[in-house]
Amino acid sequence: MTDPKHIAVIPGDGIGPEVIGEALRVLERVRETHGLSLAFSHFDWGAEKFLNEGVGLPEGALEMLTRDFDAILGGAFGDPRIPSNKHAEDILLGMRRGLDLYINLRPIKLLHERLTPLRNRKPGEIDFIVFRENTEGAYCGGGGFMKRGTADEIATQEDLSTRQGVERIIMAAFEHASEHGRKRVTMADKSNVQRFGGDLWQRVFKEVSARYPEIEANHQYIDAMAMFMVLDPSQYEVIVTNNLFGDILTDLGAALQGGLGLAASGNIHPGRVSLFEPVHGSAPPLAGKNLANPIGAILTAAMMLDYLGHRKVSGAIENAVENAINAGETTRDLGGTLSTTEAGTAICNRIE
Ligand code: NAD
Ligand code: IPM
Ligand code: MN
Repeated sequence: MTDPKHIAVIPGDGIGPEVIGEALRVLERVRETHGLSLAFSHFDWGAEKFLNEGVGLPEGALEMLTRDFDAILGGAFGDPRIPSNKHAEDILLGMRRGLDLYINLRPIKLLHERLTPLRNRKPGEIDFIVFRENTEGAYCGGGGFMKRGTADEIATQEDLSTRQGVERIIMAAFEHASEHGRKRVTMADKSNVQRFGGDLWQRVFKEVSARYPEIEANHQYIDAMAMFMVLDPSQYEVIVTNNLFGDILTDLGAALQGGLGLAASGNIHPGRVSLFEPVHGSAPPLAGKNLANPIGAILTAAMMLDYLGHRKVSGAIENAVENAINAGETTRDLGGTLSTTEAGTAICNRIE
């Protein structure tokens, strides 16, 4: 056996622990079937710890993650008892920014035609990947209040784009297209209104795309893209956009593939410890009921293995998920009757 890959597991809040539990069972299973060497360490960061100890992301956490781990598997962060969402900001945005995980990679792939709310769309017609900028934009945390709580109140919320930040995410999108045989990269912005940040995105997109003459560079305004994603999703291969637009588009994309319960994501800085988490949140109404769909978390674990160099094993997990869906062995959100744990078992049993 090779040296183990060290994985930090942070299940988080709500349905996080339930879906991560199933992702871990799948990882245990491929450890047996494929002889993978994986070592897990669990961390209890989340709402409970924040409420009890006032700690979101513990001190020294970023250094420890960088030093001791190859990857992080996260659940979800969000709790109705913390309406400010302060702990999620500390933990999730803290890791994205603090570890400089500038690529939020979110594949949108339809696995079975019955899953999409669109009429007459087959797998293959909805199959693209979103490169969401993950460290700046509207998530930079800048802004402030004047005269807060008065009738004259003013609030500002900054949207920051840096030359380096824009360039590296656009380059990542073109590199991915070039490595994976994708022929088109579509950039979405709102440069008709956001004249400064939008202008920077436009210029950098032109510049970077010129280095990839074999890949078609396409631009759409974000509002039009939201419409075309519903009317004509098959035109997309690789999408690149800023942090906030990417957040919104990927929930729409998740709906096209069958719902948030299916959607996987990676927060990546190539070559560094990176964070893998399902796109969905803590889904408080489902929490503790053994009802949540574990597929988003399981496909996220597969993405993590791919990142760690185990492409074949990752493919085996994706096949098992697809086969379970084809057999109707799913949770209720996908029209099945299984619980979270039963759906996880169905996938484990199909891993070859
Ligand atoms: P959500 O993703 O938790 O839920 C939205 C809808 O999708 C709900 O109807 C929910 O039942 C459904 N859903 C989500 N995951 C599912 C699954 N695995 N199986 C079946 N159905 C699923 O989003 P929300 O309700 O807007 O937010 C709830 C909390 O989660 C908030 O505190 C929010 O800030 C947080 N949140 C966290 C993350 C994250 O940690 N990455 C992502 C999104 C939202
Ligand atoms: C996501 C979530 C987060 C985001 C929230 C919970 C901070 O919606 O991962 O998509 O906005 O990025
Ligand atoms: Mn989101």
